[in-house]
Amino acid sequence: MAQLTLALAKGRTAKESLRLMAKANITFPDFHEKSRKLVFYSEDQSIKMIYVKAVDVTTYVEQGAADIGIVGRDNILEAEADLYELLDLNLGKCRFVIASLKDLQIMKGKKIKVASKYPNVTKKYFSRNGLTAETIKLNGSVELAPIIGMADCILDIVETGNTIKENGLTILDDVEHISTRLVVNKASFATKTDQIQQLIRQLKAVLGGTE
Ligand code: PRP
Ligand code: MG
Repeated sequence: MAQLTLALAKGRTAKESLRLMAKANITFPDFHEKSRKLVFYSEDQSIKMIYVKAVDVTTYVEQGAADIGIVGRDNILEAEADLYELLDLNLGKCRFVIASLKDLQIMKGKKIKVASKYPNVTKKYFSRNGLTAETIKLNGSVELAPIIGMADCILDIVETGNTIKENGLTILDDVEHISTRLVVNKASFATKTDQIQQLIRQLKAVLGGTE
């Protein structure tokens, strides 16, 4: 059987994703968090794992450099990539929200400034709601923007709610639920159907029927 290339998102959910795969008997003996290596092979050599930035996973998969990817739905929505999203791994659960300092009135016809790491998701949310927004793209610490007066509100991820709370922001709206997903290159799904279906079956089995 041909080898599958898997792009795994570095960061918060990588460990949990690897733990889930290990439960399904897919292990990467060379992998340890402090390693600077970027390519790892599963014990049976059936999977070649490339360890990449979360924002780049959909690019590797869409380009066919990886057959499959494991990445958060936040990055999938932002990337608007042409690929299949086939499994919810039920990890990294969080949500996209709109937040601001108290008392912001978002009104139709009034242009508001929104800071976000997710400009495409932001634009879609505001146009869907018939609102006019100017999006300011940031790469992190987005909660700062309303505090220092650079933006009226933010669209960002909330997990525990601590960051929002500790920076005195209030949630104005819930936008979307996020979790870690398995994505698949469309051509690979046609050419490596059996391997991909088998991997999905193995993962589903350890997800305990929650998917
Ligand atoms: C993420 C996200 C929020 C925070 C949410 O930021 O952008 O700021 O975590 O988590 P919480 O609700 O549990 O506080 P991250 O720590 O990844 O840093 P960054 O935004 O600077 O990249
Ligand atoms: Mg943050």
